[in-house]
Amino acid sequence: MSEDGYYLTTPIYYASGDPHLGHAYTTILGDAIARYNRQAGRSVMFLTGTDEHGQKIQEEANRRGVEPQQLADTMALVFQAAWTDLGISLDRFIRTTDADHVSVVRAVYERLWDKGDIYEGKYEGWYCVHEERYWTEKDLGPDHTCPDCGRPVQVIDEKNYFFRMSRYQDALIQHIEANPDWITPKSRRNEVLGFLAGPLSDLSVSRPKSRVAWGIELPFDPEHVAYVWVDALLNYVTASGVLDPDAGPNQAGFEEGHGGRWPADLHLIGKDILTTHCVYWPTLLMACGLDLPRRVLAHGWWVVADTKMSKSLGNVVDPLELKGRFGTDAVRWYLLREMPTGSDASYTPERFLTRYSELSNVLGNLVHRVTSMILKYREGRVPGGGGDAESGDGTETLARATEEALVSYRSNMESLRLHDALAAAMELARTANSFIEEQEPWALARDPSKAAQLDQTLHALVRCLTVIAAMLLPVMPERMNRLIERLGLQDVPTLADAQSVPINGKHVEKGDALFPRVDQVDPVGST
Ligand code: MSP
Repeated sequence: MSEDGYYLTTPIYYASGDPHLGHAYTTILGDAIARYNRQAGRSVMFLTGTDEHGQKIQEEANRRGVEPQQLADTMALVFQAAWTDLGISLDRFIRTTDADHVSVVRAVYERLWDKGDIYEGKYEGWYCVHEERYWTEKDLGPDHTCPDCGRPVQVIDEKNYFFRMSRYQDALIQHIEANPDWITPKSRRNEVLGFLAGPLSDLSVSRPKSRVAWGIELPFDPEHVAYVWVDALLNYVTASGVLDPDAGPNQAGFEEGHGGRWPADLHLIGKDILTTHCVYWPTLLMACGLDLPRRVLAHGWWVVADTKMSKSLGNVVDPLELKGRFGTDAVRWYLLREMPTGSDASYTPERFLTRYSELSNVLGNLVHRVTSMILKYREGRVPGGGGDAESGDGTETLARATEEALVSYRSNMESLRLHDALAAAMELARTANSFIEEQEPWALARDPSKAAQLDQTLHALVRCLTVIAAMLLPVMPERMNRLIERLGLQDVPTLADAQSVPINGKHVEKGDALFPRVDQVDPVGST
């Protein structure tokens, strides 16, 4: 992407099950990063979608007694509706059955075939249907089970096309070593380097139609379809527009290496799909002659009682149910505030309530106090903060805390440590609440000689809320817009403008609680 552009992606989700809290996390994380970059004036493209081909989908469709395409159509709508419900500001929802994507996948296969980077071979060995992965004997779990999902594996013996991944091993190692931040966090980077320390084998990139009919037919062998992971990874390229889907295998774009929105600035992934994104994907791109994405962030897992949340384990938390009780923004806040980017986090109803109480008891309370006092003492108008108050009135301390919070917020957002950025914003709300305690505006209001100090105090508090709203906008767009309206401003200002946007004389409103207290909403897990 060009300097003022930002292209980011989430994984595309399997169209075989409903979205759960884990999927919602990745997508909300992407959405907050997208909104933050838009707010900073960058032209953003935020991509998500559904992964619709392959054996997993074919089997789920069979189980439901529908055609795979029908299942994919249904699930694409389910995901789209969930993202609308969770306030996701995506720029494209890509489906691997989209016509432009199918053309791009075929063009890439043809290109790699022509180049000799794909060759015909034979595969004999173990295969896990669920993970759609081949395994060697030594990798298997007890009783011939898949080391990833624990299900029994099958023996297969079939013709396969292979990608010469081994050819690009050294170039990939060099790239990772030369770009220390390419894979974040460091622990994941080390994991990939560890994986690359041994010899890299070639990758099987086809499946015989006799076994998996539901896929993109290979341009050079109609009896085989594309391996679903190659098909899926290419979605990032399709949506970028770097390749013209109608121009055939020698289309413009391969030579240049970049164009349209390519290369992506950021791929967000879960740690479960590290190898596919940090080994398969970059080597495929190198073979295509396309630039590598600028950064890959691998986040941790949402676990329930120490077990990964997943449909197959039946322990999923439904984000939409939480949303129904607490509102979209509370779910967004919880997920991003609770999980340190890169580590695992455990979902519990108690932690949800603890995080929610920051919204109601700290931020909500601050908003309530500030708006009430302006209504009570200044007839609902934000007083000017200008200079004739006594010195030592404490407003400089709040201004300094605001400045520090902004610095910390910005640097944490830029380094994708959203949980720390949000902590900085919430800390500022705590400081503002303490400032109220120290200033005792109710006492100032009783003493006419302190009128200027009261003005300054109230003004400083509205300024502080304006800055907090700008910081929290990417995470809680709906409530922060509501907050800004209550402060009498038209729109949430950008971070750059939050400290200078005029607030004097604005009409403040009190309204209902911005974040109702927990005793006013159903507790989590009560159904
Ligand atoms: N379809 C592939 C991705 C292809 S991308 C080219 C896939 N799909 S998935 O639906 O199984 O999961 C996608 C992503 O959802 C995971 O990588 C991760 O980002 C997120 N999560 C799924 N379960 C999760 C948790 N329990 N916790 C956190 N994120 C999880 O893999």
